[in-house]
Amino acid sequence: MLSTLYALLFYAATAFLVIGVGMKIRKYAKAPAPLKIPITPAPTTRGGVVWRMFLEVSVFQSLFKSNKWIWLFGYLFHVGLALVLLRHFRYFTDPVWFWVEWVQPFGVYASFAMVLGLLGLWARRFLLERMRYISNPSDHLMLALLLAIGFSGMFMKFVSKTDIIAVKVFFTGLMRFQINELPSDPILLTHLGLVAILMIIFPISKLIHAPGMFFSPSRNQVDNPREKRHLAPWAAELEK
Ligand code: HEM
Repeated sequence: MLSTLYALLFYAATAFLVIGVGMKIRKYAKAPAPLKIPITPAPTTRGGVVWRMFLEVSVFQSLFKSNKWIWLFGYLFHVGLALVLLRHFRYFTDPVWFWVEWVQPFGVYASFAMVLGLLGLWARRFLLERMRYISNPSDHLMLALLLAIGFSGMFMKFVSKTDIIAVKVFFTGLMRFQINELPSDPILLTHLGLVAILMIIFPISKLIHAPGMFFSPSRNQVDNPREKRHLAPWAAELEK
């Protein structure tokens, strides 16, 4: 009964995530960029833009330039999250890919970096008057949700073990449209329930900045307005 409920929940959550993110990406890709607005100093070639985006994604370059504290906690959180997620691949792959095996020991420590980063980012929204003023309930909710997922995961890892083989059988089963028994310990069910909520709200939350940042004209435009005239498609229509 519980297994079926969670199976349906995860099918629904996956559909929301994939279709929701797909629709958002389509919307961003079609949004007009009528003006040349790269933040200068900006690259003057396409290759330069690729390098700029690479630095944004890999070391959060512009955030580093603008605020060292947010950078520190934000970076800790994101790198921790990335390693934790890579580590989770072992629940979905059989045989487990070699690099997923390599990442296992780092993944464990990464969970500390992840929650430390989140706590720092959350503290800032309480301690700084200006940040407290501009924080919405959803800003707090996202941090609370990610922290609850992190803590429930760490609880299973360090305090009360769950049957991870059964978890794997359940999830690899779902990928073949079979419903197997899911262990029913409350912490696992909490962890998974919160993850499903995260997947469902991801496309309609601020977390959509992950794919969204690639569509930011101030970062992805080449700074060549003199060499090449910038003409938005709708403006080109008017010139005909
Ligand atoms: C369907 C997806 C997921 C499943 C099946 C899952 C399952 C698990 C399990 C079974 C553990 C315990 C590991 C152990 O005892 O060795 C765990 C730990 C953990 N999970 Fe998840 N989880 C999922 C998604 C996520 C997501 C999206 C996040 C982060 C946003 C997350 C964060 C963590 C953390 C921080 C830990 C503790 C460190 C670790 O063992 O890697 N999990 N998860």
